[in-house]
Amino acid sequence: MSEHFLCLVSDLSDPGAKGPFRLGGRAVFVVRRGNNFRAWEDSCPHAFAPLEMEPDHFLDLTGTYVLCTMHGAHFDMMDGDCVMGPCKGRRLTAVPIRVENGRIVAPPTSDLLNRR
Ligand code: FES
Repeated sequence: MSEHFLCLVSDLSDPGAKGPFRLGGRAVFVVRRGNNFRAWEDSCPHAFAPLEMEPDHFLDLTGTYVLCTMHGAHFDMMDGDCVMGPCKGRRLTAVPIRVENGRIVAPPTSDLLNRR
């Protein structure tokens, strides 16, 4: 199986977010702060709801935290920790990615499924 293309680095503002993307039956999104990129499952650890209200809108107004629009949980965008809200102390589920020639890619889906 081949890797999955998610988006281009140039698709993301700084700070910014993009998604959701379908990946092996799951929804994921990508965030950027400077030259640091992370991908997370689009599922809040509080009630397992999608985080965003509309595509590409995963960050709070300051661009500092990932925001769950359902009940307001705030997550550190780089380590996924919930720092405020009803699931404080829990975290988002990370999705491994790598940046290659300006492209953000995820491993083959079979590799992701084997990680669970
Ligand atoms: S579902 Fe995200 S804070 Fe409740």
